[in-house]
Amino acid sequence: MTMTTSEQTDSADIYRQLLDPAVRANPYPTFAEVRAGGPFRIGTAPVVILSSHADCTAMLRNPHASVDRSLTKLQLETIPTLTGAGGSKDGVRVRKPSFLFLDPPDHTRLRRLVSKAFTPRVVAQLEPRITEIVDDTLDRVAETGMFDVVADLAYPLPVTVICELLGVPLADEPRLRQWSALLARTLDPTSRSAAAHRVDPDELQTAGTELNDYFEELTRRRRGNPGPDLLSELIAAEDAGDKLTHDELISTCALLLIAGHETTVNLISNAVLALLRHPDQLAAVRTDPGLAAGVIEETLRYDPPVQLMPRVAAADLRIGDMDIEQGDLVIMLIAAAQRDPAVFAEPDRFDPTRDTRHLAFGLGAHFCLGAPLARLEGRVAVTRFAQRVRSPKCTVDPPPYRAHVNLRGPVAIPLDFAGITPRR
Ligand code: HEM
Repeated sequence: MTMTTSEQTDSADIYRQLLDPAVRANPYPTFAEVRAGGPFRIGTAPVVILSSHADCTAMLRNPHASVDRSLTKLQLETIPTLTGAGGSKDGVRVRKPSFLFLDPPDHTRLRRLVSKAFTPRVVAQLEPRITEIVDDTLDRVAETGMFDVVADLAYPLPVTVICELLGVPLADEPRLRQWSALLARTLDPTSRSAAAHRVDPDELQTAGTELNDYFEELTRRRRGNPGPDLLSELIAAEDAGDKLTHDELISTCALLLIAGHETTVNLISNAVLALLRHPDQLAAVRTDPGLAAGVIEETLRYDPPVQLMPRVAAADLRIGDMDIEQGDLVIMLIAAAQRDPAVFAEPDRFDPTRDTRHLAFGLGAHFCLGAPLARLEGRVAVTRFAQRVRSPKCTVDPPPYRAHVNLRGPVAIPLDFAGITPRR
């Protein structure tokens, strides 16, 4: 497809709108506009945007859809830990990226090493501990009488769980959260025209180095004193030789820590917000907790914590009527695809009883490893919220949103409530 100059300006404009913090509270009308316009290339850049359910699914399934960003023709800034390229740049050593950004065979080998800790069967055993954490946080709310759903429920749950699984002392968490939040911004698409919304690359570099140094130090300590945690298991795998290198161990820990910090918090926040806006559904979960799983699935479709996914075309390919060239960066707007009327009836309606085919955890080889854990945490949090918080009302609607383009969730959800029912 060849674009006219005005079409190129339009596409760049739409892209700028998507990155604009002003649309954070409700990006869905912009997504609908983009989807209606079909797939497009940003000006003459090697960047293609897909937004229909069919196109996103086809791209995720395409055998030439790579996650290796070093294959793109686009000049990307070097970013540490989560997306950094291998080798060295300007004399500074840059680590190999985590397996989220690796293709087979490295991806297969590294993912296999940690996947057994996240199977549905293993994760199901965490339910009593997850329920205890949620009840503890609600007990604290009962004591203070103040409730911000994000800070008091949605954040502490996944963060405590991932720290316990990995073997990171919870006392270290306040330091880790700043690095994690900054590094999560590297998952946002950038654009020169949206430079004002960009994070300073030096700040990112520092956060990446500090997080790596933290895991270096923790690994040193844990090596002499192993525990029943994933870090100790990875150290044993490194010591056994040829399974993973030391760099791979560090980047895997960083990936899991960041994934555990930056995603489920938004799932819980977005789900509770949807229920606060639909009090009949909140009441239904209170009387029938079996409905909570549907609320979580519908939140994943309706207001997904991960809004988009990137791929690089490793060969020339065609998606729908769009020609994609080798080296193009392809951005799939999952949040738009999940409201595609071609697949979902009344897509803007929050309906926990619908049969969803969402893409919120991705598709294929990189399908979210933490999906069973996120679903369980979400279900327990929503259930206990519905059962224990009396007459909750959101005092600021819409709430303020985090600046992230990709990882979507409110900064805070301040609540008015009549009380917290004691735990049974
Ligand atoms: C609601 C919460 C979550 C959402 C919406 C989510 C979403 C996603 C998505 C969309 C991907 C695929 C990215 C791609 O294909 O480019 C992914 C991958 C991944 N997620 Fe999650 N995630 C969540 C929670 C978690 C948790 C709690 C963990 C673990 C602690 C986790 C660990 C991972 C890992 C390790 C990958 C990389 C998998 C691979 O490359 O093979 N996620 N996640």
